[in-house]
Amino acid sequence: MLFAYLLSLLDRTQAAIHRASLTCWILLLSTFILLGLWIIWWLYRFVLLPRVRPHDPPTLPYLVPCTSNIDIGHMGGFFQDSHRLMARGVKHFSNTRQPFSIVILGKIYYVIASPIDATDFYSNTTTLSWDGFLNHTLHAFGVSPKRLEALWSRPEKATVLNPQRKCLIHLTQDLYKQHLLPGPTYSGLIDKYRRSLQDLSSWDKLSSRHGKEATARGNVFSLYDLCAQVMIDATQLSLFDPILFAIDPTMTDNMRTFTDQLWKLLYNSVLLDAREINSLREKYTRAFSIYQRLPKEMRKNEAWIVTALIDQYKEQGIHEDDSAAMLVMVYWTGDANAYKLAFWIMSYILFDPDLYTALVAETSPAISDNGDINMPYLAENCPLLRSVYSEALRLRKRDLAFRQVETDTHIGGKVLRGGNLALVPMCQLHDDRSVFGEDASIFDATRFKRETGFQNCTSYKPYGGGKTYCPGRFFAMQEIFAFVAVMLNRYGIQKEQGCQRFPKPDESSLTLGVSRPLPGEDLQVHLTNPQVVGICPEKSVADVCV
Ligand code: HEM
Repeated sequence: MLFAYLLSLLDRTQAAIHRASLTCWILLLSTFILLGLWIIWWLYRFVLLPRVRPHDPPTLPYLVPCTSNIDIGHMGGFFQDSHRLMARGVKHFSNTRQPFSIVILGKIYYVIASPIDATDFYSNTTTLSWDGFLNHTLHAFGVSPKRLEALWSRPEKATVLNPQRKCLIHLTQDLYKQHLLPGPTYSGLIDKYRRSLQDLSSWDKLSSRHGKEATARGNVFSLYDLCAQVMIDATQLSLFDPILFAIDPTMTDNMRTFTDQLWKLLYNSVLLDAREINSLREKYTRAFSIYQRLPKEMRKNEAWIVTALIDQYKEQGIHEDDSAAMLVMVYWTGDANAYKLAFWIMSYILFDPDLYTALVAETSPAISDNGDINMPYLAENCPLLRSVYSEALRLRKRDLAFRQVETDTHIGGKVLRGGNLALVPMCQLHDDRSVFGEDASIFDATRFKRETGFQNCTSYKPYGGGKTYCPGRFFAMQEIFAFVAVMLNRYGIQKEQGCQRFPKPDESSLTLGVSRPLPGEDLQVHLTNPQVVGICPEKSVADVCV
């Protein structure tokens, strides 16, 4: 009995070992087959194809092959640190700076990393189209793709505002230029901004709305909150009637989250959680739906361009949802960058007491005792402030400029194939050591003052170029100059004790436009109440006099 039992046990054990080793073999074989297939794919994709098609921009190798619209490609590196991915690409292709391609979520993006090619990128308005990319953006803001055609079709009748019967998109671009480039309507806009800023930056308003820890001498603020809330409010009041605040009082507070997460709508994919940005977009669209329906008498304090746009939307029979989505875009375009740049400029100043003192000396004639701001003085007589502004833009405007490749396009000795997207990584231009010197990665307050030619060199493109060269650049500069001058001259501002580290920027591709500080990388600052103590502007940051 015992012997028979032992024999059957031995049989079972042998069978189990046999099954286990069979499974191991199958696993091993599958692994080898998969590895073999992967090696064949990799050699085909990154070794053979570049030889067969030498004129196509080569693809920066990636690990996971896939062909559907969830092809991950370089997604990880792109969303974690797009600047590093671009630098890796340039280095991988031996620093030739010829166009190369990356793959993100199933789409091919051609990377244009040389300053000369970037200039061609901006000046080519026929086969590299902003319009194609704009459609993509309009859709992200909520314009129905089915109705996009209405925005591109020319109206039948000419009007006073649109004598050449331009389509709504091209007319909007013209109106922006007319309104935002120096001229009568621009002066009106700047004046509205000046008055709003003057009011919003009074001690009582600042302290009650943004203050965190009032003392007898002053109050503590988050620098990022201060820049965002004051500047977004002031810009909103310059463009729209104050009734917009009544329609949705949370618009300003939501702007940062909206800007920070907008990339999710642009890169639209099932892999991204876009619930929060979708609900914010709906909220903004609702607010603008209500706003545009108001009679003109109730919107009489809005900027000329807003009235002109709403009139045109109505005249051309644009669907209300689409015109509201376009107004959200107008609101976002005006607000999205300046507050972040003001934050970086203030941070650079607060970390350099000599710069603080020099800027107070330069800007103080523009701020009178009653708080009035002399905008032309700041624009024309403050070369150091202008240099600090340009340098901060160089180091913090590092995002990507996109174009839709409409048909095959020759650029930098390569052929970009129609149907894909092309991009210029601004970081590759703005970090150019051959132009800005070996210390290109370091903030130098006087770099642009010493070398005024940097403003127009091919490696400096914070405002883009060509036909879509930012028409808001004058307004942005003046609004930031005024904000900085008010902060430095109306109040004694200094870093709170114990928060000495310079804030780190978000180096991913997540922020559109000027980089945001990484979450949590803020500065706590102390502002001295000028009604309690006299401020000596000539003194350094640490020497607020009692
Ligand atoms: C520091 C602040 C700003 C920066 C860095 C900035 C940057 C840019 C850039 C790079 C472009 C070109 C995009 C491209 O061609 O790929 C652009 C376009 C544009 N910007 Fe700005 N901008 C700023 C402020 C503003 C402001 C305050 C406004 C409006 C009030 C504005 C209105 C526009 C408009 C309407 C366009 C599109 C022009 C067109 O399609 O012809 N910008 N901006």
